Amino acid sequence: MTLPSPYHAPGFYDDALAKGRHRDIVGGRWEETPRIVLPLLTQHGLTGTDHLLDIGAGALRLGRHLAPQVAGYWATDLSRALMLKGWETELDDATRTKLPQDHLIEDTAFTYPHIPATITFALAFAVFTHLPADHLATALTNLRPRFPSLRRLIFTVFLAPEQHSGPHRQADGVVTHPDRFPWHMSERHVLTLARTAGFTATRHDHRLPRGQTLFTADPET
Ligand SMILES: C[S@@+](CC[C@H](N)C(=O)[O-])C[C@H]1O[C@@H](n2cnc3c(N)ncnc32)[C@H](O)[C@@H]1O
Repeated sequence: MTLPSPYHAPGFYDDALAKGRHRDIVGGRWEETPRIVLPLLTQHGLTGTDHLLDIGAGALRLGRHLAPQVAGYWATDLSRALMLKGWETELDDATRTKLPQDHLIEDTAFTYPHIPATITFALAFAVFTHLPADHLATALTNLRPRFPSLRRLIFTVFLAPEQHSGPHRQADGVVTHPDRFPWHMSERHVLTLARTAGFTATRHDHRLPRGQTLFTADPET
């Protein structure tokens, strides 16, 4: 059976973490990614009063900056060990105090277990670039009933032209696929999945690492 992503290979996290590679697991670019992404989150409405859910937070490449900036920060990932490694090695003392370890939740199915219903904003950066479209559909579908106060989700995907059936080269050279990692989908597919889950999604043409495309998705009223 083909795995959805390298993350799903048995022992993947244990091996990479044992080799001290928690930054590589999330794609490196440790300083560049927050430098580009954090201003975009503010531009697209994240404020200091938000209660933020960082979906697929990894080694807290963004979380280490975000946790001190918001009223509440919670994170999920396929690997809690990866988030804990980020917590132990990448956070300063003040951020560790602000971010209790029990805010880092392992979540294999986008059901957001143990996350409080008070979440107002959600982020999934460079997560659905690594997963087939049905994962995005599940993540979106489960958000609305779990978080009635959610104002906005920001997520990224790789896009390919409509009706494109094979590999596609992204702006910075990454080759993506319709049927295997790294995954792409059409804009129309993204908008349809969002609408089905009760969101209005909008594409934003920012220049992002590896040529990902950013979407905002707002709950339909
Ligand atoms: C490229 S990393 C991005 C991490 C983080 N969002 C960032 O930008 O630094 C992708 C993350 O998605 C996580 N992931 C992969 N499949 C997942 C799933 N089914 N549910 C939750 N997280 C998942 C991986 O463990 C990894 O941390």
